[in-house]
Amino acid sequence: MLKARPMSDPKKLFVKTYGCQMNVYDSERMVSALGAAGYEQVDTADDADMILLNTCHIREKAAEKIYSELGRYRPLKNAKPDLKIGVAGCVAQAEGEEIIRRQPMVDLVVGPQSYHRLPDMVAKTGNGVGLVDTDFPEEDKFDHLPQAPKSKRAPSAFLTVQEGCDKFCAFCVVPYTRGAEVSRPAQKIIDEAIDLTERGVRDITLLGQNVNAYHGQGPDGDDWTLARLIRELAKIDDLWRIRFTTSHPNDMDDDLIAAHGDLDKLMPYLHLPVQSGSDKILKAMNRKHTAASYLKVLDRIRAVRPDIALSGDFIVGFPEETEEDFQATLDLCEQVKYAQAYSFKYSTRPGTPAADRPQVDEDVKTERLARLQALLAKHQHEFLQNLVGKTIPVLLERPGRLDGQLVGRSEYLWPVHVLADAGLTGQIVNVRVQGADTNSLSAVLV
Ligand code: SAH
Ligand code: SF4
Ligand code: F3S
Repeated sequence: MLKARPMSDPKKLFVKTYGCQMNVYDSERMVSALGAAGYEQVDTADDADMILLNTCHIREKAAEKIYSELGRYRPLKNAKPDLKIGVAGCVAQAEGEEIIRRQPMVDLVVGPQSYHRLPDMVAKTGNGVGLVDTDFPEEDKFDHLPQAPKSKRAPSAFLTVQEGCDKFCAFCVVPYTRGAEVSRPAQKIIDEAIDLTERGVRDITLLGQNVNAYHGQGPDGDDWTLARLIRELAKIDDLWRIRFTTSHPNDMDDDLIAAHGDLDKLMPYLHLPVQSGSDKILKAMNRKHTAASYLKVLDRIRAVRPDIALSGDFIVGFPEETEEDFQATLDLCEQVKYAQAYSFKYSTRPGTPAADRPQVDEDVKTERLARLQALLAKHQHEFLQNLVGKTIPVLLERPGRLDGQLVGRSEYLWPVHVLADAGLTGQIVNVRVQGADTNSLSAVLV
């Protein structure tokens, strides 16, 4: 008889994930790979046999945060010397050997492109020498990751279709930590989507650092665009909802815009970062678009899908940003009225082009961020208030905090709290929105 697991009891694996959705997806893959090596995921570090930090390097102090987190595990390691500690993700890629030098108790450091080698690395640890793998290997890591047996999954999931970035915005570490743009072959993505639907997934978010630059090989040998891939995925009966993130304004091609108008399964939500409303700053950021060209893309999308919820990313206090430049960002927000947005103070990343430029005062950054966030919050509130009284479809996902309550997902981004029978989990139901909180909606079944 075949055994699904090694003979011994499963070892306990604690994973802590930082950063973007791709790290969430990567953590799932690492858990699955280590599952085949006899590890079972647990939700506390206390009695774990292995601790894995999947890290993010996007803003300053990310590495320092990881070192202090590692320091907190020192007593655990002292009490249990065979506890394995691993650092994965973008800090691992950026810092490499340095992590072992500063924290010799770390057993392994593995970058985002080589984590399929994790089970092998884990098997080789334990002789007191830290292992480091930050290669960008030739082989496709996705082909080398053992698949977990068909387990049931929650109704929504991430699926990486593209990784890395060739854009080199002057503030950003991603091209260095994730490497050059690589698209997965379309058939592999379709197969993975079918597999996910067989496990109960109904809502898939396609992931890529530059997802709309996707250009993977299709089963017909042609280069497929993201729109072509989405059109094919939409043919999977049990897949009801498709989303994608994160996009670059310059890669919103005609077909992708058209897909928002004619594909019911493509959700009316688009995250399209702009970073700044000032052309001078956009140029200094090497964004290769202007405020006007960005707004034009939005106009074209709204023309085919008027109810689309728009989301963005903003950086305030980029080197040489004046009050006038910042005002242009506020003006752009007034024009777009984002349904949701993320905003950050510019943070210097060593090795990126903007790091050595004259910096804006911290106090100025703080004050501008507060003004921008107040405006973005006002627009988000207006968007959510506008949904009150409307009937919307919601995919019920999981139990809520209150008895008899389920949390579902609207077609937009926000969760919706509904009183509904647990048996409805995994179904799309129509609900009437009764109230709007800062980041969620409450509704009743209709
Ligand atoms: N295209 C990417 C963007 C990754 S970074 C993606 O897949 O999500 C996410 C956001 O972080 C960026 O859009 C930008 O607004 C912000 N960001 C990146 N580098 C930054 C820096 N050095 N300082 C502040 N914010 C930054
Ligand atoms: Fe970073 Fe710019 Fe690439 Fe996005 S497009 S990952 S912000 S370099
Ligand atoms: Fe962070 Fe790396 Fe994602 S730097 S945002 S985890 S790509």
